[in-house]
Amino acid sequence: LGHPKLYAYPSKESLQSDLYTYVLQAQTDAFARHSKFKVAVSGGSLPAYLASPQLISSSEIQWSKWEIFFADERAVPLDHPDSNYGLFKKELLDKIPSENGQPTVVPIDVQYLNDTQELADAYEQALVRSFAAKDSVKLPIFDLILLGCGPDGHCCSLFPGHPLLREDVAWVAPIEDSPKPPAKRVTLSLSVVTHAVKIAFVTTGEGKQEVLKKIFDEHPDVQGGQVLPCALVNRAAGEKVSWFCDEAAVKGVAFP
Ligand code: 6PG
Repeated sequence: LGHPKLYAYPSKESLQSDLYTYVLQAQTDAFARHSKFKVAVSGGSLPAYLASPQLISSSEIQWSKWEIFFADERAVPLDHPDSNYGLFKKELLDKIPSENGQPTVVPIDVQYLNDTQELADAYEQALVRSFAAKDSVKLPIFDLILLGCGPDGHCCSLFPGHPLLREDVAWVAPIEDSPKPPAKRVTLSLSVVTHAVKIAFVTTGEGKQEVLKKIFDEHPDVQGGQVLPCALVNRAAGEKVSWFCDEAAVKGVAFP
């Protein structure tokens, strides 16, 4: 397994420009395998970084072949301010010119909002419908998963030291005690994340310096005894992982 790639950009625009090229390449690679581009996205600052004017207006992005899932989602209605779907719609979907086609977007099924296990199961079934029957494929293979990295080293709704990190059956799991509010969420499992063809993290700002130093330090004791979820992704997925950061975030980080 090779090393994850770590890129540091001097500006938001330069990061977005390379991220656009990367996404376009992932789309091309996906079309070499099948007719769809299957992507999962997280919340946080990721949608705004992804939604560059370049990507939004690109004639090379084949939106109608995109199938977009949520790497994690909060157990709230889709129009709630905490909804990752709502955020993604506002930051990106609503900006795609209609003549460029529209992606298929798969939000959580809000009829299960008061039972996070059912909410997770229903979302897993949505994945099963897209990625073929669960008993015929052990894990779905996303063409691309786009993630943020929390200051505590979490990604999706996979938090440091949480038992959910050991989930090895479910594709989508509920969490009721997320340390980052809101507490109730559903998330892709770590295995699903690391099984993707490509995984990209987008993380910027001085506030991420300390955690990035830990993530790119191979020694678990430096990470506070437990390996951080983002470091687990690096470790399991190796060269399939790319980090799009700014110069502030990578200060002091040992490049792989
Ligand atoms: C969520 C997000 C979350 C996010 C990270 C990083 O639902 O809370 O999906 O996992 O990606 O917290 O957030 P920032 O990019 O805003 O730092």
